[in-house]
Amino acid sequence: MVSTPSAPSTHLDSRQYLPPTNFEGPLSPNQQLLPLTATATDHHHLSVGGCDVVNLVQQFGTPLYILDDHTLRTACRQYRQGFERYYPGEALVLYASKAWSCMAVCAIVTAEGLGIDVVSAGELLTATEAGALPENIYFHGNNKSFEELTLAVEVGCRIVVDNWLELKTLGEIATQAGKAVPILLRVTPGIECHTHEYIRTGHLDSKFGFDPDQIEAVFEFLAGQPQLHCLGVHAHIGSQIFELNPHTDLGAVMAQWVVTAQRYGLALTELDVGGGLGIRYTEGDDPPSIDTWVKTVCESVVAACEARGIALPRLLCEPGRSLIGPACVTAYRVGSQKEIPGLRTYASVDGGMSDNPRPITYQSVYRALVANRMAAPLTETVTLAGKHCESGDILIKDAALPELKSGDVVTIAATGAYNYSMASNYNRVPRPAAVLVAEGDATLIIRRETVTDLLRQDCLPETLRPKAKSI
Ligand code: LLP
Repeated sequence: MVSTPSAPSTHLDSRQYLPPTNFEGPLSPNQQLLPLTATATDHHHLSVGGCDVVNLVQQFGTPLYILDDHTLRTACRQYRQGFERYYPGEALVLYASKAWSCMAVCAIVTAEGLGIDVVSAGELLTATEAGALPENIYFHGNNKSFEELTLAVEVGCRIVVDNWLELKTLGEIATQAGKAVPILLRVTPGIECHTHEYIRTGHLDSKFGFDPDQIEAVFEFLAGQPQLHCLGVHAHIGSQIFELNPHTDLGAVMAQWVVTAQRYGLALTELDVGGGLGIRYTEGDDPPSIDTWVKTVCESVVAACEARGIALPRLLCEPGRSLIGPACVTAYRVGSQKEIPGLRTYASVDGGMSDNPRPITYQSVYRALVANRMAAPLTETVTLAGKHCESGDILIKDAALPELKSGDVVTIAATGAYNYSMASNYNRVPRPAAVLVAEGDATLIIRRETVTDLLRQDCLPETLRPKAKSI
């Protein structure tokens, strides 16, 4: 996940980050640093979705999440077409909405024929409000509340059961409601992968899912719970993964669970292999394409089912980052700068860890460009700092950039995944707006928060109210 900073250069400029125009065949969005529609205008401005980023920030302010409709839809289509090409059975791609849950994003992926993976009542209601059908919503989470489970049963979505407490509670809720509840079981596959330890979930020491040793006991329990209709099994290995091997191995592990279930009279018809495909945050990142990932998943499941003589299940996967990550950039304005001779130059922007907590949380490395001067040579090494009261609030250490002036529009690439969704109000900084750009039009999809929005949640007890000043 950590990669070296790019070196300062007198002949390279920010246009090097643009997607290639002379490429044969479709580009996989997750292999690009910038959205597929990113270009430089005649005035050397960055343009995304046909919109000049300098105009966008004038109109909508900064920081601003700029989401490219075309890149998001292309990624959705590449996943779907991959399954059509490589999987002879039925398949459904779910968008892992934890990557960015908002109504516009859920509506776009729904229109593209994807289902949605949700992990809370908030994400569930965002998906339903955006028009997702209940049967295409899969509800995950290792500690769903009683209220969330009840809501899920009411809505009629699929529930991915994570543990014994949930299984038993859900059995009771289903009996009370007098309806059969469709569930999947999340099981830890015991597959290792190389990614940051916080986002690794497939290894046995994980808070998520049933331990594989428990699976027979779970199937036995389910055999006596007709109100819980077990459709299949789910496993997720981890996130920002560049290797294909874990998914080559996963098919066999999961197909074996299907065989085990048969011994308990359960006919499982769905396999959900989770998400995890990585994206390109810097030039050093070289993830496989969406097409290659889907091919690997399909071939692994087909081979594992054939080897065990079982019918092909309905195959599901849940990408988040690789769908939405590359489709967005975040634009900031540069403010103050501090040069420490012989040591470092800091340039501060008007956002930071509150709109992108990934650098401080996972030491993630990003690339930045100056949207108002795309052709300026990258002669400087600058540390881009956020505005928060925290020394670690650094967005990019040692970024290769042109000499910066205050007011420059610095834009960070690949911020669609786990930025807005993990944003906070640290230091009482309101969260940014988001716009959707498509064919030269920009539409607000998330209103900029205001300090008034934040204050609205505060309750000031009568006894603490400031007294009128006596003169
Ligand atoms: N399915 C399940 C059950 C998951 O837990 C996740 C991610 C996904 C699907 C989607 O994985 P993706 O395709 O996005 O890799 N906040 C971290 C990432 C946490 C991932 C959590 N689970 C980050 O910013 O890197």
